[in-house]
Amino acid sequence: MILFIDACTRKNSRTRELAEALLLGVAKDESAIERVNLYELDLCVVDEDVIRKRDKALSLGDFSDSYYDVAKQFAKADMIIIASPYWDLSFPAVLKLYIENISVNGITFEYDENGVPHGFCRAEKLYYVTTAGGEIGKYNFGYDYVKTVSMGLYGVKDTTCIRAVGLDMATVDADKVLENAKKEIEKYGRKI
Ligand SMILES: Cc1cc2nc3c(=O)[nH]c(=O)nc-3n(C[C@H](O)[C@H](O)[C@H](O)COP(=O)(O)O)c2cc1C
Repeated sequence: MILFIDACTRKNSRTRELAEALLLGVAKDESAIERVNLYELDLCVVDEDVIRKRDKALSLGDFSDSYYDVAKQFAKADMIIIASPYWDLSFPAVLKLYIENISVNGITFEYDENGVPHGFCRAEKLYYVTTAGGEIGKYNFGYDYVKTVSMGLYGVKDTTCIRAVGLDMATVDADKVLENAKKEIEKYGRKI
């Protein structure tokens, strides 16, 4: 199963457009894809009540509550594609909310007796697709964080960032940049 995590809010999002091009290349058909629109998920803020609830579930070994469905879905995906626009040098807050809600000790990872985390996620590959109005350069904080948490905490084997930049700059032909990015995407043609 390919999990498509959509953190794009605009109807004509160029980030989503790129991610859809990637999906065409890597998914054998639509049935292989599970789509999650983060703006429609109604994610909760992880406050003290949520932390207590999660600690209790861990101690009982009972994650049957539907709250844990998003974390379980992430853990069982064979491939993960995140589409997220470049906002304020990283990504929209809704993606951080999602990450906090899937970071459940006992589902996506577990700490051993020395406090070292071990990932429980199946995905071999995570693609992070982003577009920016200006340059990203070395300030790719959103992707760098997603890569570190995915590989370091969840156990995802490998990540790749696909980016198209300068899309809001008067000197840049945005359509051309997007076309070039789509050509680049064609080389990621592993069907699931
Ligand atoms: C709230 C917000 C914050 C943004 N922050 C940045 C930024 O820090 N750097 C940048 O280059 N572009 C920034 N942009 C421009 C977007 O990165 C750019 O328009 C992007 O292509 C939007 O993606 P979308 O077409 O998928 O919505 C921002 C746009 C918005 C709406």
